[in-house]
Amino acid sequence: MEKRKIKEKVFWLGAVDWDRRLFDSLVPLPDGTSYNAYLIEGSEKTALLDTVDPPMAETLMKQLNDVSKIDYIVSHHAEQDHSGTIPQVLKRFPEAKVVVTPKAANMLADLLKLPESAFVIAEDGQVLSLGDKTLKFIHTPWVHWPETMVTYLEEDRILFTCDFYGSHIATSDLFVIDQGRVHEAAKRYFAEIMMPFRNVIEKNIEKLKNYKIDMIAPSHGQIYDKPAWIMESYREWVSGPPRNLAVVPFVSMHGSTQRMVDYLAQALVKKGVRVELFNLVVTDIGRLAMSLVDAATLVVGTPTVLAGPHPLAAYAAFLANALRPKAKFLSIVGSYGWGGKTVETLAAMIPNLKVEVIDPVLCKGLPSDTDFEALDRLAGTIARKHQDSGFK
Ligand code: FEO
Repeated sequence: MEKRKIKEKVFWLGAVDWDRRLFDSLVPLPDGTSYNAYLIEGSEKTALLDTVDPPMAETLMKQLNDVSKIDYIVSHHAEQDHSGTIPQVLKRFPEAKVVVTPKAANMLADLLKLPESAFVIAEDGQVLSLGDKTLKFIHTPWVHWPETMVTYLEEDRILFTCDFYGSHIATSDLFVIDQGRVHEAAKRYFAEIMMPFRNVIEKNIEKLKNYKIDMIAPSHGQIYDKPAWIMESYREWVSGPPRNLAVVPFVSMHGSTQRMVDYLAQALVKKGVRVELFNLVVTDIGRLAMSLVDAATLVVGTPTVLAGPHPLAAYAAFLANALRPKAKFLSIVGSYGWGGKTVETLAAMIPNLKVEVIDPVLCKGLPSDTDFEALDRLAGTIARKHQDSGFK
């Protein structure tokens, strides 16, 4: 992909990674991704905002072939998918200074071994003139690392946000065209890396609310030329109440836990609760994370194996604990052969979740009528608690 103009003297650069299917050796990328950099040519100075993941460095360096000088490289975020090509850009443009938050300077020194002399520190609210274009740096920490910031291009009212408001989609679209698709991808991305920090992100959103923003240009996915809807979606994900939704990640070895989960799902639906089941043997953890953005209740389904929860259920519990969703209620269902400490082990794995634990339903072997009655009671309790809390 070649350099593309988004406004007068403002260009998209970067690479579309159509084939990438996993990020950080953890996060599924069903739709690939892009690494967006931006070039702003002021009347006096030129700035490059972010770079690309190092395997895509050649693409960016080719796009810079007709650029005679870069005065500033603004690095919004030290993670290497945006910062990793800074050393190559500096080699081509040795006079350039790397503009960063104080925390990012330390991190880039560690990650890229850049010398202290490479950096210009951008304090919160600081302005940098490029001549007829003005950059304002706004610290927006914990999106999703502590050093993150965004840049507001005052004359064009463009907010450059890096991961913030981004989405992992590989496409030739420069601007958002398919809003439904981008909404889903952006929500998935929020869930996977930003949900644990939503209290800080809420403050960041508040900080941006008085800026007139015509465009949001993230460093993954497409540019929002009508940004109101994505800003509103973020507000909802960050501070809206949970929904009348129970999310049930489960694993079954010989079918007993599967029967319990299926029965519970039916019972919940009959009582008016929406349900999403995730068989952990085949599930996409990004989709599970996305459902946790809205869920009021989390029910983990697991057999007892080696005297505790199945390792896949333990993984789901660990993930939920790390993502700190808004869920208010939690329970456990599953089957065991002769005993074990499944409930105690799982309960100890979720200290970050501020949930009310509803009595688990564990059965010996195949579930019996008594066990199904217990599942009916569990469904009733969940439905009542959702109703009492006003979750819709
Ligand atoms: Fe796209 Fe946190 O890096």
